Amino acid sequence: MKRKDILGIKDLSKSEVNEILSTANAMRETIDRNERSTVLRGRTVATLFYENSTRTRNSFESAAKNLGATTMSISVAASSVQKGESLVDTGKTLDALKTDVIIIRHSVAGSPRLLAENVKASVINAGDGMNEHPSQAFLDALTAQRKFGSLAGKKIVIVGDVKHSRVARSDVLLFGMLGANVTVCAPYTLLPQGIDSMGCDVDSDFDRAIEGADIVLPLRLQLERMDQAFFSSREEYSYYYGVTQKRLAACADDYIVMHPGPINRDAEITGEVADGDHSVIEEQVTNGVAVRMAMLQLLTANVGGEL
Ligand code: CP
Repeated sequence: MKRKDILGIKDLSKSEVNEILSTANAMRETIDRNERSTVLRGRTVATLFYENSTRTRNSFESAAKNLGATTMSISVAASSVQKGESLVDTGKTLDALKTDVIIIRHSVAGSPRLLAENVKASVINAGDGMNEHPSQAFLDALTAQRKFGSLAGKKIVIVGDVKHSRVARSDVLLFGMLGANVTVCAPYTLLPQGIDSMGCDVDSDFDRAIEGADIVLPLRLQLERMDQAFFSSREEYSYYYGVTQKRLAACADDYIVMHPGPINRDAEITGEVADGDHSVIEEQVTNGVAVRMAMLQLLTANVGGEL
């Protein structure tokens, strides 16, 4: 891979996508064998999260450690950001600390690109506002590929708060590149204008959209990003858009249920479905480490000294 940064699926070519997925698949095998590598020995990976995270931050840190890197975790709440330090100045400080890769999550779309343009370190976008979350899309795609093989012609239904979801945007782009047929489903108030131009079908009727689905991927209601009411009640939303065992009867025989997490049980998904035989939610988390190992290895192999 020749690039310095991974900022979004929209920047990647088909061959880069395939390189990340095939490397991640190999990394997953090393995780299953409990192997550790030293390929990133002498390298420093920093996580710089301006928003909360459980899965993404910890799996990037696990990934870095699995490859032998040193990790630095910048807690924004306890950092000089609280004294007014800008994102770019924080990035330059990380450069001066000889950081090789900065993993950034920020509430403002475009922040990872701004950082990448102003630092020597490689930058990986770990979620920016309502824009993209590329490593999440890759772990979703890896999980689906490990289940189905080729995703060509597979039907994936992404249901829920599409409007506020960076995961939905990255998933639509990546699953589309892999040949899947993607439908996004939400009440009209939670569908962003122009989402169909990203190459997906749009349907507000979940019972119709789910028919024959191979993959169902509910999204959390992102209440923290809502500045107005988008549905009349949580109960009504769950009634029409909740993923229940009864609704899943309309799927293809061998369907899977994915969720990027965190889940809100009995809001967008029942506990029975989340813990059920078709759920691959925990598999996604493990694949998240593999995908992030692949990203770190491929970026650092391109930048800096011999590994
Ligand atoms: N899916 C995801 O981004 O989870 P976290 O917010 O816990 O990182």
